[in-house]
Amino acid sequence: MKAKTNAAPTEVPRYFTEERSADAVVARMEAGADLRLREVMAALVRHIHAAIKEVEPTEEEWMAAIQFLTDTGHMCTDWRQEFILLSDTLGVSMLVDSINHRKPSGTTESTVLGPFHVADAPRREMGDDICLDGSGESLYVSGRVLDGSGAPIAGAELDVWQANGEGFYDVQQRGTQPEMNLRGRFTTGPDGRYWFRSIKPCSYPIPHDGPVGKLLDRLGRHPYRPGHIHFILRAPGFQSLTTHLFVPGDPYLESDAVLGVKESLIGDFTRHDDPPRAAELGLANPFWVLPADFTLVPT
Ligand code: BEZ
Ligand code: FE
Repeated sequence: MKAKTNAAPTEVPRYFTEERSADAVVARMEAGADLRLREVMAALVRHIHAAIKEVEPTEEEWMAAIQFLTDTGHMCTDWRQEFILLSDTLGVSMLVDSINHRKPSGTTESTVLGPFHVADAPRREMGDDICLDGSGESLYVSGRVLDGSGAPIAGAELDVWQANGEGFYDVQQRGTQPEMNLRGRFTTGPDGRYWFRSIKPCSYPIPHDGPVGKLLDRLGRHPYRPGHIHFILRAPGFQSLTTHLFVPGDPYLESDAVLGVKESLIGDFTRHDDPPRAAELGLANPFWVLPADFTLVPT
């Protein structure tokens, strides 16, 4: 039996040691394995080992962590993605978004996609009302899609979706809300302009009946998002932009459960009590107006 090794500190010990635990794992990765995968897994292993060393969990605590991840997986179905909620509520989705969409100043900022986007929302005519059940406070949204020099972008697509006046997306209330309620795709004309009718969005809780909701609760965090409208903008020659516009004054702006708020995305919603103007716009009075231009970055 060999006594204590005299290995230099940079040399990975042949067997696992607490001190060099992460190195022991990283050293097992084959030199020929995919380089990016090795890079990602080495970083992950080093950070997990460092976290374990920092908190020194009991075995019961570690089993509770594994049970949490197991429950998170079991909660996932074709229409419920609990791991994305975990990523969202831990701020990881926003961090990945920020890293991948560093924007030149003066262009519209991005934020999280969220789980309620539907790829094939119907194409709508300019001015259409995307609210198909007539509930909620009416809203008129209009503006332009521009490039960095302020020139209009013709043929840009705005893919829009939002929750109803009670805070539910159509896909959360199949059979209760009309299909494709509060969603649609609009295409700008030569002047880059768009306009449509909808309802003022309200704050709502993210799905919180699963392990992520329980975790938020145990951490003293609420599951609410401030009222917002989602947009994806696509135009040939430009980077696509996934963003929201938020309602100013919403009580959850500074505590959004998914940390998705950016100051520049707080919209200029104003309330109007003007029956002739409401009739002109095809809205119930009183109504809200949201002017919003979007500035895209070239590819
Ligand atoms: C949403 O805004 O639709 C959303 C975003 C992240 C998690 C849940 C919902
Ligand atoms: Fe949303």
